[in-house]
Amino acid sequence: MTNRKGIILAGGTGSRLWPITQGVSKQLMPVYDKPMIYYPLSVLMLAGIREIAMITTSEDQAQFQRLLGDGSQWGITLEWIVQPKPEGLAQAYVLAESFLDGCASAMVLGDNIFYGHGLPTQMAQADVRAGGTVFGYRVSDPERYGVVDFAPDGTVKEIVEKPAKAPSNYAVTGLYFLDETAPARAAAVQPSARGELEIADLLESYRHDGALNVELMGRGYAWLDTGTHGSLLDAGNFVRTLQDRQGTQVGCPEEIAFEQGWLTVEGLEARAAIYAKTGYGAYLLGLIPR
Ligand code: DAU
Repeated sequence: MTNRKGIILAGGTGSRLWPITQGVSKQLMPVYDKPMIYYPLSVLMLAGIREIAMITTSEDQAQFQRLLGDGSQWGITLEWIVQPKPEGLAQAYVLAESFLDGCASAMVLGDNIFYGHGLPTQMAQADVRAGGTVFGYRVSDPERYGVVDFAPDGTVKEIVEKPAKAPSNYAVTGLYFLDETAPARAAAVQPSARGELEIADLLESYRHDGALNVELMGRGYAWLDTGTHGSLLDAGNFVRTLQDRQGTQVGCPEEIAFEQGWLTVEGLEARAAIYAKTGYGAYLLGLIPR
């Protein structure tokens, strides 16, 4: 069992999706039948992480709390942290320093959706590795992301944020397994030209010390983009297609909690009762062995 703590970074203005995200946080947008935040939350829960800090803007915090509460319905604990301004991904570690309290962490961006058979195993491997581990995923448009620059021998030369000309097709996904030195390293990162504490600079601090691992997620994984109106709709359709075909849920916190043994049958029944009018409620009841 991991003693890593989790961080979900769900702040930002969502301005690339305006007007739909002008009134509601991007990470609360629907991805088919669930709020976007359910998917990254499920990833941390799949990694066995039960103590999670939710970082949001101050305006959006109450809405997230209305949805997620204190996490006890899933046998987890959620601690709430405000990011006053979107001053960069690495700032999350500075804000979460006292929450982490010297623990290693796994951080996931609130708009990142992962789906793949090997994900729990890959995360379990990252959990026991020293230093920092990030995941590279092949994309057709790497310029939109942090990109891995590989040396000819396959080692990592650099992580470059949104390069004009990408050195490889491997984007760095928004899932970061970093050791307990992350808050101190993040505090030493200088703001970039755009005024942000860049995650690429934090990762560079690890790489400089020979402590950065880049694991590739193979083509059997889906790492879905929600950054444009079209890709958000595509992500919803992907989830719908899978769920309808298989009759299983993608990103269902109750299911993961139940499988992890964090939720009793009675707890699951109580959750199902809340959703009695929906297929989600029926699905939860169907998880109970009869
Ligand atoms: O999705 C993976 C990519 O995420 C990585 O490949 C990049 O290296 C990383 O910089 C990031 O790129 P984005 O272009 O997606 O970053 P963006 O500024 O859109 O922020 C990602 C999410 O984090 C977004 O949902 C908003 C939230 N956020 C962002 C910033 C800058 C915050 O909560 N606080 C912030 O300060």
